[in-house]
Amino acid sequence: MEDVPPVSDIPQQKQKRYDDIKNTFLKKYGNPPEFFARASGRVNIIGEHIDYCGYSVLPMAIEQDIIIAVSHSSTTDKIMLSNMNPSYQDFQCSIKDFTISKSDPQWFNYFLCGVKGILEYAKPNALRGMTCMVSGNVPASSGLSSSSALVCCAALATMYAHGYSIAKKELSGICAQCERHIGTEGGGMDQAISFMAQEGTAKHIEFSPLRTTNVRLPGGAVFVVTNSCVEMNKAATSFFNIRVVECRLVAQIIAKSKGLNWRDYKRIGDVQKALGLSLEDALVVVKEIFHKEPYTKEEVCTFLEVTPEQLAKTTLSTNTLTVQSFKLHDRATHVFSEANRVLQYKRICDENPGDVLQRLGTLMTESHVSCRDMYECSCTDLDKLVDICLESGALGSRLTGAGWGGCAVSMVPMDQVEQFISKVKENYYAVEPSRAAKVSSAVFATQPGGGAAIYKM
Ligand code: GLA
Repeated sequence: MEDVPPVSDIPQQKQKRYDDIKNTFLKKYGNPPEFFARASGRVNIIGEHIDYCGYSVLPMAIEQDIIIAVSHSSTTDKIMLSNMNPSYQDFQCSIKDFTISKSDPQWFNYFLCGVKGILEYAKPNALRGMTCMVSGNVPASSGLSSSSALVCCAALATMYAHGYSIAKKELSGICAQCERHIGTEGGGMDQAISFMAQEGTAKHIEFSPLRTTNVRLPGGAVFVVTNSCVEMNKAATSFFNIRVVECRLVAQIIAKSKGLNWRDYKRIGDVQKALGLSLEDALVVVKEIFHKEPYTKEEVCTFLEVTPEQLAKTTLSTNTLTVQSFKLHDRATHVFSEANRVLQYKRICDENPGDVLQRLGTLMTESHVSCRDMYECSCTDLDKLVDICLESGALGSRLTGAGWGGCAVSMVPMDQVEQFISKVKENYYAVEPSRAAKVSSAVFATQPGGGAAIYKM
């Protein structure tokens, strides 16, 4: 039996939330839902912006999740969506015919990505209409993967409503692909952890082929998430895709410099493997090949011997066609060093040779510095927050998720968590009324949560 998402009863301690969703569903649609799908958000402990380069990452699922109450019917082709949060408007369309507009990050488009993923994969003969009530408590646009949780949850709901049972690995791949209909070219981390998470353990996730290994986090420390309160929706800007494209150029330029057929390469990890380089050697190659100053588009085209029109096809994406400058040296340095930090982090957790917390903390903080200075995916407030976390007793602290805003994750000695939280509240949140208003949901300690599931009524 392949490892498929479990179908079980609603966990008792969660009953109240499910009852609320059920009652809202009933009030809105006049009949009760038939089942619930749930998928969680995640916090990435280390390994940022390297999954789409083919490198492994180390996230854990958080308790906050998306839940969708669903009833379905073969006598209608309608998808009807409503959200418990009134700021997200109702939406409806036909399951037979809908479009997802790129770079339009309205909430229902993420739902539709999940539906589309399953329809493209399973190609059901008989499409069923679905009536849904969505409830989410993953903070939006904050690097905790609320959007992927919605995509995964919608895919799971569509799968179950159409009578399919698809393995978690398969679902992870389907959802990593189908989320791209929204326009961002993410890797597969968020979807993989959402399906494959297991309560009590973080996961080392490797790609091509997708595989996960449990990572036992050392005792004595707690992971605390703090939201900078700067929102960043990666589908609304081109920041994210510009980094993806810069990494693609790094891969192609290294490939060409080393005599490989550069058009065959899109991911840095694949070139590294083809050249048989260690991550340390790869960092030396970066110094050899790339100059520190940004590359102009013209320079890149001249090196690859292509016209700008050809470059658009081999390398760019729709929302990066007009980008004129690429910081290849710094992006490559981040990717190889971050990939190495993930492996070191995992090794330290596995070997657990005694007093490891300080070493793990240092790796996390180094990761932040690299994201900030080399990958330039942080922002002033987030840097300030990380500094405050470190000053407040964290052993390590870093931005988590795509960045440019959103959350930091800090590793804090277990016996100092309360003190840590109160210091951060005082120094980051209390000083700014807009942050103070959000503090109750902006700071939380978290344990590794479980993966996506279906709950019967
Ligand atoms: C987003 C993407 C992920 C990953 C992170 C950055 O969450 O969806 O695939 O690239 O950003 O690490």
